[in-house]
Amino acid sequence: MKVTIVGAGAVGATTADNLIRRNVAEEIVLLDIKEGFAEGKAQDMAQTAALLGFESKIKGVTNDYLSTAGSTVAVITSGIPRKPGMTREELIGTNANIVKSVVENLVKHSPDIIIVIVSNPMDTMTYLALKSSGLPKNRIIGMGGTLDSARFKYQLSEKLNASAADLNAIVIGGHGDTTMIPLIKHSTWNSIPVSNFLTAEEQAEIVHKTMVGGATLTSLIGTSAWYAPGAATAAVVESIVRDQGKLFTASVYLEGEFGQEDINLGVPVVINKKGWDRIIPLQLDEEDKEKFSKSADAVRTMNNVLKE
Ligand code: NAI
Repeated sequence: MKVTIVGAGAVGATTADNLIRRNVAEEIVLLDIKEGFAEGKAQDMAQTAALLGFESKIKGVTNDYLSTAGSTVAVITSGIPRKPGMTREELIGTNANIVKSVVENLVKHSPDIIIVIVSNPMDTMTYLALKSSGLPKNRIIGMGGTLDSARFKYQLSEKLNASAADLNAIVIGGHGDTTMIPLIKHSTWNSIPVSNFLTAEEQAEIVHKTMVGGATLTSLIGTSAWYAPGAATAAVVESIVRDQGKLFTASVYLEGEFGQEDINLGVPVVINKKGWDRIIPLQLDEEDKEKFSKSADAVRTMNNVLKE
């Protein structure tokens, strides 16, 4: 099985590294527009095989889409990341052109492909990929909620002094600092509501820290993060390739679910060899319904920029 990763930068290379270490695919193709860049990254990673003991092969190419032919899954991370003080939404102009042409090239060589979009603003880029590719909706997945949910669990684990693996917590809505919705009321520590352990103020603080999680790292590092984004993307790819049927929050095309239509937004979905297989409904209270609707309005405004 072949997995292509477009964009050999921070997130793309980290995704590849996570995948080869776990032998998720026999072959990984890393593609970048920058001459020699993907080749170099791929060789560097391949040279860890003797040390880490994996069998996966990784090949780097410069803009050579023929090498991607027959891919089961592609991840798109190509584009520009944000700098301190920038929002994800400010990246739209540059990244829309890149994502559109990358999608066309991928589908030309792998018509049955499943595409995972990482480039920001992710919900809008996912919507664009769906509309421009003509692929069935289940084969276009936006990765953002998986990362935001991992960051939410991190914040909860810090406050509760608990193992992140014991926490159940998801973030739905848009993948933006103000559009994401960490569902604190639905969060549990081994099935016990976290509200049993945390004050209202502590819960509000956790929600806030989750929402600005990406921006906090951008101001610390000087550019956007890659370890958790790469691990989250690899987890989604693994669930497709190994047909694991794991439940993730991902940006998928809504046709009436959660009261929204003609939009890609983060909701809980089962991910398997079909791509995203089905949406899992949630019982949201009025407050969270209102937040979801506001989040959709903001993402829709961004989608409309594409039409200008
Ligand atoms: P980066 O700058 O390290 O890597 C981007 C790579 O894309 C560069 O190597 C560049 O040469 C390449 N590229 C640009 N145009 C291309 C084209 N037409 N074809 C092939 N390659 C091309 O950026 P980084 O940090 O890896 O971030 C990538 C994207 O992912 C950004 O848009 C960032 O905002 C987004 N991101 C999304 C996350 C999410 O949860 N959805 C999390 C983290 C980042």
